[in-house]
Amino acid sequence: MPGCVESGYDPRITESEAEMLDLTGKVAVITGAGSGIGRGIALALAGAGADIVASDLFLARAEETAEMVSDLGPRASARRADVREPESVVALATSAAAEFGRLDICVANAGIVRTGSLLTMAEEDWNEIVAVNQSGVFHTVQACAREMVRAKHGGRIITISSIMAAHPTRGSFGYSTTKAAVVMMSRCWAQELAPFGITVNSIGPGYVESRMGVGAIGPGDAWETYGKSVPAGRTGTPEDIGNLAVWLASDEAGYVTGAYHVIDGGWLDRSWSRDDTLTEDLERRREQFATMNGDELLAALDAEADEGRDGWTALRGMMDLP
Ligand SMILES: NC(=O)c1ccc[n+]([C@@H]2O[C@H](COP(=O)([O-])OP(=O)(O)OC[C@H]3O[C@@H](n4cnc5c(N)ncnc54)[C@H](O)[C@@H]3O)[C@@H](O)[C@H]2O)c1
Repeated sequence: MPGCVESGYDPRITESEAEMLDLTGKVAVITGAGSGIGRGIALALAGAGADIVASDLFLARAEETAEMVSDLGPRASARRADVREPESVVALATSAAAEFGRLDICVANAGIVRTGSLLTMAEEDWNEIVAVNQSGVFHTVQACAREMVRAKHGGRIITISSIMAAHPTRGSFGYSTTKAAVVMMSRCWAQELAPFGITVNSIGPGYVESRMGVGAIGPGDAWETYGKSVPAGRTGTPEDIGNLAVWLASDEAGYVTGAYHVIDGGWLDRSWSRDDTLTEDLERRREQFATMNGDELLAALDAEADEGRDGWTALRGMMDLP
């Protein structure tokens, strides 16, 4: 970067930058915090020092998360809140701010799946998925943002979308559509809230080990096999998503707003490829990486290229070439 060195820019991580990831003294409200990704985010934020208000449709689940947070040290409390009902989430935001004295971080995470194709989807399933995944995020963010604006100390809003926001699905258009809405709502709100020092970002996870994720793919072998089709070689964990949330909530991410952060081990980009042999290719690569030394690995790649079996197979697939 021109001028960097002259201006005394030092890229090494300093102690004060590490401190920027410290969330001590911040208060976070998380919806759907009684399970999977919401719990992972609650624990990760708590691990960085934040006090946590864990809320869920099922109080017992939220209480379990709050107990786990308390074990880590920060203050925690649990609330029942149904994101479909605006007054329920307003009560959540105001009571959290009243109990802990402030509300700095809002994670609109609660979500559900309702499958169904255009020609057969039941009206009640459509209404339900829109009520939770889209209206629920609106209710949550509106209630929390109003608290942040009232307190005038800025804040961080994180919404949980999905890779499906960028990936049309057959038989699940309600999910893809509501998750795409989450991305666009977040971009609009980022514009509106920037003057108040509040950032808004959406996270788009790939398949993550949770009730929902494993429920969709299947447990055991089905889950393991699916993981192998991900370029990173595994499915995601709630901790992976929690780590990203910590960064987005931190001072380090103060200039990041209105963005859709895909976190999927490379799955989304891989999904555009029409090459059905991709999973085999990935497995062969992992095997080569695990068993060969560097020179052998490069020689094997060169040999494959000579035989026309290199990365261009994917492109041939896309172009319908033989
Ligand atoms: N697991 C995945 O593979 C995956 C991938 C991409 C995105 N997501 C998204 O991540 C979020 C969390 O999903 P998860 O995988 O942890 O699922 P999960 O089913 O394990 O947890 C969802 C939690 O939300 C709660 N909830 C449901 N309806 C609610 C409501 N009306 N009000 C308040 N809470 C409610 C549930 O009780 C549950 O505790 C969702 O928005 C989901 O769409 C999940």
